Amino acid sequence: MSDKNATLTVADRSVSLPLVEGSQGPSCIDISPLYRETGHFTFDPGFAATAACKSAITFIDGDKGVLLYRGYPIEQLAEKSRFLEVAYLLLEGELPSSAEMAKFEDTVTHHTMMHESVKNFLHGFHYDAHPMAMLCAAIASLSAFYHDTVDNEDPAQRKLAAIRLIAKMPTIAAAAYRYSIGWPVRYPRNNLEYVTRFLHMMFEVPSEPLELNPVVAKALDLLFILHADHEQNASTSTVRLVGSTGANPYASIAAGIAALWGPAHGGANEAVLKMLAEIGDAKNVEKAVARAKDKDSGFRLMGFGHRVYKNFDPRARIIREMTHKVLDELGVDDPLLDVALKLEEAALKDDYFVERKLYPNVDFYSGIIYKALRIPTEMFTVMFAIARTAGWIAHWIEQHEMPGGRIGRPRQVYVGATPRDYVALDKR
Ligand code: SDX
Repeated sequence: MSDKNATLTVADRSVSLPLVEGSQGPSCIDISPLYRETGHFTFDPGFAATAACKSAITFIDGDKGVLLYRGYPIEQLAEKSRFLEVAYLLLEGELPSSAEMAKFEDTVTHHTMMHESVKNFLHGFHYDAHPMAMLCAAIASLSAFYHDTVDNEDPAQRKLAAIRLIAKMPTIAAAAYRYSIGWPVRYPRNNLEYVTRFLHMMFEVPSEPLELNPVVAKALDLLFILHADHEQNASTSTVRLVGSTGANPYASIAAGIAALWGPAHGGANEAVLKMLAEIGDAKNVEKAVARAKDKDSGFRLMGFGHRVYKNFDPRARIIREMTHKVLDELGVDDPLLDVALKLEEAALKDDYFVERKLYPNVDFYSGIIYKALRIPTEMFTVMFAIARTAGWIAHWIEQHEMPGGRIGRPRQVYVGATPRDYVALDKR
């Protein structure tokens, strides 16, 4: 390999493949000439070693536990920023001036209402519908209401769709939750900031004003910052793949919500809490760790392991510290936290987890905080979706702004039947 090309030799054929360098991180071998030059595909199930695109939004170094949003370390944004400012940063690439932030906040605030027909649509679900099902359907339905933002080639329409999605996601999420508990919808209040407005839409009842502890809004805002983006994870890659076909932004984000729902991805936070509750007590931790190591058990330690982080997930470190603080400030004594701490301690000492570099990820502690904030378990992944909408739509816009975009269409290794002739029914 030279510093500009890699040479691949297959049988008697050699092909020179150009290297693609980014601003930081591993360089890539451009294999696009491979099939034409050698007649071979590459094979990378799960895309563990495949860069699907160029992006300037988020950088992760899994070995060092580094996460940057537009070059800013997540630790600094967690300490100094707030979610709506991070959403601006992900979308625009730079931190806003005070005037830019005021304008962005005002624009988002004035797009928080949902069409009454979306509310009626939500009320068509059975009362015990999972809120992720309702959210996915409702977001997809927005393309039926906003024909003025479905021309993907128009930058102004792309930006307005981004504002609408970031603004309406909390309104629709809260409406889905309140429908499931039989409460009337609470409309967004423009005098409140983004996260506080969401909490009011979630928990305020008509009969009395909501007394909101500022610790709750601050904790949720921080969780939204930590969940806002994460490079080419499964749901973001889904948004990009759907976006590559020319599908409208609402359909693309709805596909991302569907992908996030899986327990291997965003659904893990809900699964972690169910797992901790099933373990029940710190004395059962050793048994749980043993089960997780037994391949035949089908049981995994949810909230552990990560495709990219082979060190502590930097978000997990921040959330772990925040968990203690939030529970102390709210005076919550959750026995599941003791189970989680014991489980983490046992796993991090166990060779199985150490050898495989399985550390707690962003989902391991977040559920304990959501529970302390009185967010119902079924809403945990909805919280993730609200935050990740900023990252998803930033990637969707970036994909449309980058020249040379092509429809995503992977190939395969065919392992099915080789050609054979049809046999008439009476001959089988
Ligand atoms: C998120 O990609 C992102 O950036 C995602 C995310 C984001 O912000 O968008 O960070 C959010 O999705 C975090 C991950 C949440 N999921 C979970 O917590 C579910 C539990 N974890 C896993 O199922 C798993 O670790 C994944 C899905 C996260 C990663 O899967 P990989 O990279 O495909 O790893 P693998 O399944 O091939 O596992 C490698 C080995 C295997 O053992 P061996 O075959 O080598 O013997 O590690 C084992 C696995 O059996 N393993 C686990 C384990 N995770 C992996 N064993 C027990 N418990 C676990 N949690």
